Order: sequence, then C-alpha cells, then structure tokens
Amino acid sequence: MDLFSNIDIEPARQRIDELTELLDRYNYEYYMNDRSLVSDFEFDKLLRELAELERQHPDLASPNSPTKRVGGEVNKSFRQVTHRFPMLSLGNTYSIDEIVDFEARTRKLLGDTAFSYTCELKYDGVAIGLTYKHGQLVQAVTRGNGSVGDDITANARTIPTIPLRLRGNYPDDFEVRGEVVYPFAEFEAFNHQREADGDEPFANPRNAASGSLKLQDTAECARRKLQFCPYFVMLPQVNGELGTESATHLGLILRFAIGTATGSPFTPLERGGSDAVREGSKTGNGEYSTHFDRMQSLIQMGFKVQPYMKECLNINEIREYIDYWDNERWNLPFGTDGIVIKVNQVALWDLLGLTAKSPRWAIAFKFKAQQVSTPLESISFQVGRTGIITPVANLTPVWLGGTTVKRATLVNADFIEKMDIREGDSLLIEKGGEIIPKVVGVDLSNRKAGAQPVPYITNCPECGTRLVRADGEAGHYCPNSDGCPPQIVGRLEHFVSRKAMNIDSLGSERLEMLYKKGLVMDIADIYSLTREQLIGLESYDESGQRRASIQEKGADNILAAIEKSKEVPFERVLFALGIRYVGEVGAKKLARHFGDIDTLIAASEEELASVEDVGEKTAKFIYDYFSDLRHMQLIQRLRDAGLVFKVDKSSYQQSDVLQGKTFVVSGVFSRFSRDEIKADIEKNGGKVSGSISGKTDYLLAGDKMGPEKRKKAEKLGVAIISEEDYLGMVR
Ligand code: IVH
Repeated sequence: MDLFSNIDIEPARQRIDELTELLDRYNYEYYMNDRSLVSDFEFDKLLRELAELERQHPDLASPNSPTKRVGGEVNKSFRQVTHRFPMLSLGNTYSIDEIVDFEARTRKLLGDTAFSYTCELKYDGVAIGLTYKHGQLVQAVTRGNGSVGDDITANARTIPTIPLRLRGNYPDDFEVRGEVVYPFAEFEAFNHQREADGDEPFANPRNAASGSLKLQDTAECARRKLQFCPYFVMLPQVNGELGTESATHLGLILRFAIGTATGSPFTPLERGGSDAVREGSKTGNGEYSTHFDRMQSLIQMGFKVQPYMKECLNINEIREYIDYWDNERWNLPFGTDGIVIKVNQVALWDLLGLTAKSPRWAIAFKFKAQQVSTPLESISFQVGRTGIITPVANLTPVWLGGTTVKRATLVNADFIEKMDIREGDSLLIEKGGEIIPKVVGVDLSNRKAGAQPVPYITNCPECGTRLVRADGEAGHYCPNSDGCPPQIVGRLEHFVSRKAMNIDSLGSERLEMLYKKGLVMDIADIYSLTREQLIGLESYDESGQRRASIQEKGADNILAAIEKSKEVPFERVLFALGIRYVGEVGAKKLARHFGDIDTLIAASEEELASVEDVGEKTAKFIYDYFSDLRHMQLIQRLRDAGLVFKVDKSSYQQSDVLQGKTFVVSGVFSRFSRDEIKADIEKNGGKVSGSISGKTDYLLAGDKMGPEKRKKAEKLGVAIISEEDYLGMVR
C-alpha cells in the first residue's frame, strides 16, 4: 500500500461504517417489521456506494457487509465442517398415542420435578447451524450427517432473515440452529419461472431450499428469497446440547405446579404454565435457562422467530396444539410437517439424556399427508413443446390442504394403466409436503360395477395427427412438430426464455399473437420481424375483448431485445433450439466439447454419447435432429440472421495446454471435487468424456475408482494418470 492511500482510508472507513449501519437498519425494518424506510432507489444507491468503497478498499470490506446480501461470489466447493456439537435428529411418530407415552414417560422420569413443555412447528426445510462470535456471523453449516456438514456461509449471508451482525444482548460465542424454508409464494413463483425457462420444476419447497443452499452462484441464491426459522440455541459455554449443568438444584426449586395454560394454543409466542414454573426457569442462567426464553431472546438479537411457539403443561394442552395446527398449517406461508415437543427447562435435558440418535427430552409428531377422494369427471390431454402428451384429470373440485383442487396430472398412459383407472371412478388425491396434489390411487369403495378402463386418445387433440408411442417409452407424443400449434408456440416460448435467448419483451401472449397472424411460424422468423409488423398488433381474450396492443415503444423494445440476442453465446443458442433432452447443462457440455455447430452436426451418435452427461438416448435425439433437412435449413436461417454458432473459448478457457486431449475422470480426489477437476480440464482446453473409448487420451484416476474402468483403459491402451500427474501437466 502506498503512502497516499492511507490518507484516504479514515473517511472511507467512516463512510463504510455509516452505510453498513444504515443498510443493516433498512434491511432489518423491511424484513422483520415489514416497513420500508427508504425507496428501493435510495437503498440501491447506498448499496452501490458501499460496494464501490469496498472495491476501492478491499481491506475494509467486512465479510458481513450488507453487500453480501445480494451475492456475487462463487462457491468453488463446499468445505466439510465438523459440528462442534452434533446436530441430533428427533424421534418421530405419526401416532398421538406415542405422544401420550412420551409425555407419561417424561413425567415419570422427572418425578416430582416441576417442568413444562414447549410445542412448536416442525419446519419443513433444511437444517443449518449458524455460529456467531462477538455478535458476528462467522459460519453457516448444513446438518449433513449430523456430525459433518457443508460450509454454506456465503449463501446463508444472502438470506435476509439471517442476521449478519447481532443487535441487543447476545452470548459471545454460540450457535443458532434452525431450518431454511422456501415460503410457498416465493417457491411457486420460482418454479413458474423455471418452467417458463424450460427448466425442470422442483418437486417441493424443501428440495428447492436444499438445492439453493448448494448453489455455486451466491447471487442466484439471493434471488431465491429463502427464509430462516430458528428452533434451537446452543450455548457451548453454558450447556451443550445435552446440557452439562447439574439439573438437580433446579429440581429442588421447581415444584410441579398445577395450573392451566391461558388462552388458545395459537396465541403468538404464548407462555403458558404457572408462575412457579416460570420463576423456576429464571434461576441458574437467567434468561437462557428455558428453551422458550432462549428462543425469545433471539428476537431482540435480530432473528425472525416464528410466533407460534407455546408453553404447555400437560398432554391435553399438547393435544390441543397438535389438533389446531393439523388444520391450520395450510394457512401458514411455509411448509410444516409436524409439531416438535420439547422439555422446556434446559437443565433437565441432561437428566433425561439421549437414546442412540435423539434426545429423550424432545419428540416430533408428524402430520399425515392429507388425502381426499373425489370423482374423476373427465381427462384432458395437453401437448407439450416437444409433442409429449400429458393426460390431466379434471376432478370435482375438492378442498385439500389450503387450496381447491380441480386438476391433477395423470402423468402418461402407463400411469393410468398401472392405477387401473376406470370410467366413473373416484380418485384419491394427496398433498404432503408438496403443494402439487398427487393422484395416489383409485377409491375402490366408489367403483361402479362393470366400470370399463378409460380410453386413451389415439390422435393429437390439437392437430389430429396419429400419436406415436416409441418402444419402451411410457408416454405418447405427437410427431407433427412443424404443424401442431402448441408445439410451435411452445418452442417459440422456450427459444425466447431467459436461459435461452432471453428476449424477455416477447412473452407468451405476444408470441401467440405473432403466430396466429402468421408472422412467426418458427424461431428463425423472429429475426425477420419489422417495426411495421409489430406496431398495432393486438391480442384478444376468449370473449373477444381486446387485451393489449403493441405501441411504438413496445415495438422498439422488442426489436432491441431481438438484436441483443444475437450476442448470446453458442451454448445458450444450442439450448434454445429445444432439442429433446438437451437441457442447459447438456448444451454447455456439447458446445464446449465440439466447439462449433458444424463439428457437432458432423458427430456420430457414438461421439455424441461419449460427451459427459449425454446418454445414448439423448445422443440419438441429437443425431436425428441434425439429420432432418428442415432443421438444417432452420439453422442456416439463424446463421444468416447473425446468431453465434461457435464457442468463444476466451470466455471460460484460461490456457490451451490440454488442447485436443480427452479425459475420463473417475474416483475421489484429495485437492479437488470431481466437478472441480472436470471444470479445470475444460479451463485448460481439454475435453471431458463420460466413458472410456478409443478416443480417450487419459483416465484420471482418483481413490476408489472401480476396477472395470481400469481394465477397460488398460485394454484400450489409455494412459492412467493420478491427480499429481494431472497437476504436473497443467501447472
Ligand atoms: S429440534 C435436539 N425443532 O427436524 C433437537 N427440529 O428430526 C434438534 N426441525 O434435524 C431438533 N423444525 O431439521 C427441532 N422446531 C424444530 C424443528 C426441527 C424442524 C427439523 C430439524 C431436525 C429434524 C429432527
């Protein structure tokens, strides 16, 4: 550092502190109290100022700066971390009788010690532990196997309800455990977007939350809008999770108090119990001696503690709480799959101890998936962008888990056959952790005598073409890809979607409009649209009412976005073509492997299948796609329009020392994860293949590589190298 930069540093430090405090406060008010103290514009301005200062003075940038909320870092790998105290799981049951047993057993074990329980929601998400030192978040780790988890700190910092810096009073060194959940509304919006982008939607909010925490791109994690629900405070220096403090003195003080809890079981953060129990809880470690108080103390530290916890004194109160939430859970903004009951007095945990995996002082009651039976009125058949037919059950509307269910997928012809669905049947519909209702069977008690199997369509419901069902495929498809309207519009939608060509000013409605007018019949037509054609284009709803029309400005925006799409890199253009089974990742691998469209077109099925993540089935689809003259003409038109059909190596490649070399990677490595080592090969100009063939140059062998791989490599004379050999080649 030179002499002069020191002069600037003090004002910069001050301004950084000032901005940090302001932004922290705005964030806090926004996420904890639903209060906007500044406009988004002003907020962004301050955030940008802070980011710029941090860029100029990297030494002054705190790992817990508000700029970390928006992400921007890349997680290279997720370091494995051993938990200071194991993250235990809970014994769980679907049976209320077992909860009655648990309560009786606990009461017996504690004898005449006065104690209470807390009942709280069992959040359906991903468990993590957050370590705070001197009020600063220092580490976030997933539960993993309970002993060892993944360090996901950078992604955790993007979750707005995880405080990066604590307020109020807090222990100097402690851990807060809780569940990262994906609220329903955000999850649905996200899945919707995924589908629009041509990505596979997530099955449920839990899977999506788990996937989000393992994202390499922290900015993408920030966009996911996850939430943190704390459920446990670990105070290593006071008590471990098991408790280290002697419980007996508390036992003397606490006499079981006969008292009734006040109010309903759902009053926010309700403290039931009697004063005797409560006074008792204040002994020993003051406000940290009961679970209830520990959880409450988190609020003033800046955590968003769910307000539904209740202190219960006896089994009746526990039952009441369970019954209430079994119905009411559907009105919560996030998923719960049960209720957790814990002994409230921390000092008693030690006394009660542990079983093999879980504490004896807590238990989870799990809710059953809700199931209803409702008549199947008819089956509709939807046609997807690739021609796949999906049968959908139209049901007599029925209330289930917080929403009215009218439709549910019947997946494909095989599914209908396996379920043996007959005409006039009632279907059993279930909603578990998923928000999408599932058909789980036929309600045989409602089957009419002599009911016949439901007929399956033989022709496309949209264009009338005879459907095809390839050998070994579970579903049918319409082969009329160039003449079947939903397939054409579906392909157009996929082509313009964000992860493909990203022409966002052309939404579904506009595309449909352009298609109906005959202006855009295939993806290449998009590039010959003119301003005159666009201006004044109108769309109508079903009743014939005019809904929207494109004005001059709208037309200019569309044309600008189309022009900009000509810079989209080859891998995304390849994805945008919509070749069956070629997703975003597959397209990237293919593009990097072959380098340009001509080499890809010339590749044999075998070569295609050797690319990582491209199986034989996909290889055949790719091969067939490029064997079709119509597709070749389409690609020529896209080329003429100026789209990119060649990989820009400089965008990801750092060297070409491995140029022309093909690697197969197998086993476990010490310095890299397998994905990292593959990325490294590509960065250095090499290719990665999924299987060993005559074209493989090296088998990069880690620990625990299977013997067949070695045998095959030896047979074909492929060089087998170690991680060290590899490093020697590239470094
Ligand atoms: S307490 C020793 N409370 O359920 C106590 N767990 O099988 C540790 N969970 O891994 C857990 N909501 O991921 C607790 N309110 C809650 C919870 C909860 C969800 C999860 C947690 C844990 C699993 C227990």
